[in-house]
Amino acid sequence: MAIIQNIETTLKSGETVIVRSANNHDALSALNIQRSVIAENEYVITTSHEFRNTEFHYQENIQKISENPKELFLVAEVKNEVIGWIIFHTPSLERRSHIGEFGMMISNEWRGRGIGKMLLISLLNWAVEHPSIEKIGLEVFSTNMNAIRLYKNLGFIEEGKRIKQIKIGPNSYIDVIHMYKFVK
Ligand SMILES: CC(C)(COP(=O)(O)OP(=O)(O)OC[C@H]1O[C@@H](n2cnc3c(N)ncnc32)[C@H](O)[C@@H]1OP(=O)(O)O)[C@@H](O)C(=O)NCCC(=O)NCCS
Repeated sequence: MAIIQNIETTLKSGETVIVRSANNHDALSALNIQRSVIAENEYVITTSHEFRNTEFHYQENIQKISENPKELFLVAEVKNEVIGWIIFHTPSLERRSHIGEFGMMISNEWRGRGIGKMLLISLLNWAVEHPSIEKIGLEVFSTNMNAIRLYKNLGFIEEGKRIKQIKIGPNSYIDVIHMYKFVK
């Protein structure tokens, strides 16, 4: 079971943040964060009218990940409120057993205060100790400068770029950047 010990950190602004493995009760909060990030219409592929996930989907996902020793679903919590999450998925094929990819989202009002960094460092620390995970990957819109800065600061390297992979309007496109980091 990929479950980590709770990690407690105090922000410069004084609040205590707990990074911990997600449980069933986090499903609705995690869903609401995804909904609000999608509504911002800037950082993710899915549009609000296409978004079908429900609290139940999240509950299922949390359950599945908690039973899979190679996957991780972490949340960041302040004063009993979930304010961000990171999900790490791995493929099931044997020849891809050394890799995995993550996605992460922080509530708008909590961004730029180190929460994303804490979640990603927690994932990396777990991955370093993991017996089979070697390479961590991600995809990010080329326009998402805050995310790219965070990933680069933590040692992720650009692996390639899919040009005009996202079409946001007539004659308006975004490239998708693939990044990776070896943890072994
Ligand atoms: C990308 C995201 C996860 C980053 O999380 P965050 O909590 O805002 O990031 P942090 O505050 O931990 O920032 C860590 C580093 O990123 C950079 N950064 C992040 N937000 C920044 C901001 N608003 N201004 C300047 N730098 C910023 C800084 O370099 C910072 O490093 P430092 O503080 O050690 O110098 C968050 O902004 C988010 O959820 N965005 C919307 C959804 C999204 O884009 N998800 C990722 C899709 S690939």
